[in-house]
Amino acid sequence: MITLTRRYRFCAAHRLHAASLGEEENRAIYGKCNNPHGHGHNYVVDVSVEGPVDRATGRVVDLQHLDALVRALIVSRYDHRNLNTEVPELSGKVPTTEVVTEAIEQHLAKQWPAAFPAGVPRLRRVRIWETRNNQFEAVAI
Ligand code: NI
Repeated sequence: MITLTRRYRFCAAHRLHAASLGEEENRAIYGKCNNPHGHGHNYVVDVSVEGPVDRATGRVVDLQHLDALVRALIVSRYDHRNLNTEVPELSGKVPTTEVVTEAIEQHLAKQWPAAFPAGVPRLRRVRIWETRNNQFEAVAI
């Protein structure tokens, strides 16, 4: 088994604000990330897949196929968007990078069987760098 990790990037804006909490509580929890005008990040997304090496091609995944999938499902839908309002799977949620990481992993996992009907490679992990100091990871089942 080989694990291959491919890196993607998108830029997006968000504001951390929980509708269920009051203004003061939001400010206390999220600090400057609660700024009403939002702020942006250059997100780096590492998608890891795992599978056997195909003996004919010597590869674990067709990278063009993986790129097309991740670009269609994630990059094109998240890049230059407002994560509070423009991404359906984040609707009604606080778009922390914890929540964004979960959403991206679940969105990829849902479409994975149609994209890779042979069952290989498997989706192994989604890791997102929000800043150079913050990294989040969702491990696929
Ligand atoms: Ni932020």
